[in-house]
Order: sequence, then C-alpha cells, then structure tokens
Amino acid sequence: MRPDMKTITTIKELRSILAPAREAGKQIGLVPTMGALHEGHASLVRRSVAENDITVVSIFLNPTQFNDKNDLERYPRTLEADCALLENCRADIAFAPSVGEIYPEPDTRHFSYPPTDEVMEGARRPGHFNGVCQIVSKLFTFVEPHRAYFGEKDFQQIAVIRRMVEDLGFPIEIVPCPVIREDSGLARSSRNTLLNEKEHRAAAHIYHVLEWSKPFAQDHTVAETRQFVIDAINAHPELEIEYYAIVNGDTLADVNAWTDAPHIVGCITVYCGSKPIRLIDHIRYQ
Ligand code: PAF
Repeated sequence: MRPDMKTITTIKELRSILAPAREAGKQIGLVPTMGALHEGHASLVRRSVAENDITVVSIFLNPTQFNDKNDLERYPRTLEADCALLENCRADIAFAPSVGEIYPEPDTRHFSYPPTDEVMEGARRPGHFNGVCQIVSKLFTFVEPHRAYFGEKDFQQIAVIRRMVEDLGFPIEIVPCPVIREDSGLARSSRNTLLNEKEHRAAAHIYHVLEWSKPFAQDHTVAETRQFVIDAINAHPELEIEYYAIVNGDTLADVNAWTDAPHIVGCITVYCGSKPIRLIDHIRYQ
C-alpha cells in the first residue's frame, strides 16, 4: 500500500506538486485512464512506477471521445476502488478532475491524422480520436511527463497518439504496454464488467478465433483469413462482428498480401450479447 498517494482534482494543485519535482530532476510518468481500473491498467501503473520517480494516473471519463452518449452513460464509474488499486500499485498521484476543470470552455480544437484516425474505429466512431487527442494533449500539457503509458489493447489509439506527439512536438516517450488477458484469453477491458456470465464466456471466443487464424494464415491469403475470422465469430450466437481489418501495423492501411508490410496486425470489433457490448482486440500475424 502507499498511504501517501495524493488524490487531487485541480490543475493548479497538480502543477504545484510537479513543477518543483521536475526542477529537481525527477522523472515523471503519466498513465492516462478513464477509471474503472483493472489488471490491465495496474500493469501500466507498475511499469511507470518502475521506470519513473513520480507516477501520475489520471482518472477522467472524457466526454468528448464518446460519440455514443449511451456508451458514456453506462461506462462504469468506480473511483473509490480505482484509488485503492492505485495505492496498491504505488502510484504517487491520482488526478481525478471534474469535466469543468478540464473543459471550462468547449474544446474546439480539431486533430486530423489520416489515415490512422480515419480507418477502423475512426470510421465507425466519428469524432472519437479527435476527443482522445483533445484530452491526451491537455494531460500532456498539464503533467509534462517524460513518459506516457498506453495499453496496446487500443492498438489504433497508440498509432494516433504517436502522430499527435510528432505533430505537436511533445518531448514525451510513448510507451506501449502488452495486452493483459483474463485466464480465458479475453482482453481485459473496463467494459467486461458490463457482460453477464454467458456473454463473458462468449467474449472469450474472440481471442480463440484470432489465435486459430494464425496457423490458418500460413497457407491462406489475407482475404481468406479475414473471411475465416468473420465466419467463425458470426457462427457464435452471442457474437456479431462489426469489422475485421488486416492492416500494416505501422500505418494501419489495409494489406492485400502477407508480403505487403513488415508488421501485419488483425484488428477486430465485435458486438457481444443483447445490450450489446462492443469489444475490441487484435492479433499480430508477423
Ligand atoms: O484509453 C483510454 O482509456 C482513453 O482513451 C484515454 C487514453 C485515457 C483518453 O481518455
């Protein structure tokens, strides 16, 4: 436990703690989150604690990145449990501001990093990555971290944030951290708590299908592998695929052949259950 973890809500207080620490040469790590923390977040926090003198974890359910207001309303809110988890991981500062603190005025900035923010999630969730860039750029400005930690589960998000960091010249190292999975193989996500037991079991099928597609890909084309995944997901009564894209892992552009790019990644989005809950995952082919 870390009983001296500070929970703060204002930018002014955050800066008043971090400015002298930075001047004293302390390294600062930032883990941006929207709360509802789980083992996936804990792994980011532990890594930041190991690599920095001070770890700041932001807990802010950012309204500007939700194009679906129902999704925002039902997003789990668990601040007390989140702070307990952060204390356990030895975080130094939990920064949990209000919406008014972050957006005293509506944020009218527009970020555009094609093709990374236009394909896949970008095409299906208009404005989502713009909202992500709005909040992450604000957090980078308030915290001025040396390193910022993001889960690779949101594979496309990391690609977009890297473009933003390049564009705006933030002197910040982006540290991608591996997906943390449940024993069943299901990628850990705050949304998993919204699944009932039956849906939870069904959701584990997503990763199994992605795993099966790896040996399949060895003697099939990209198009055949894509279809294999789509059919195998849709064959499950609780699952419905939204898209399966096989892309260049750096640019996120679609590939047509396995020789098209040095890193090839399959990115999937699936609706699970009757509510339904939207789940994402990915797999590396090479
Ligand atoms: O990945 C998330 O939880 C969010 O998109 C982030 C990076 C915390 C921005 O709100």
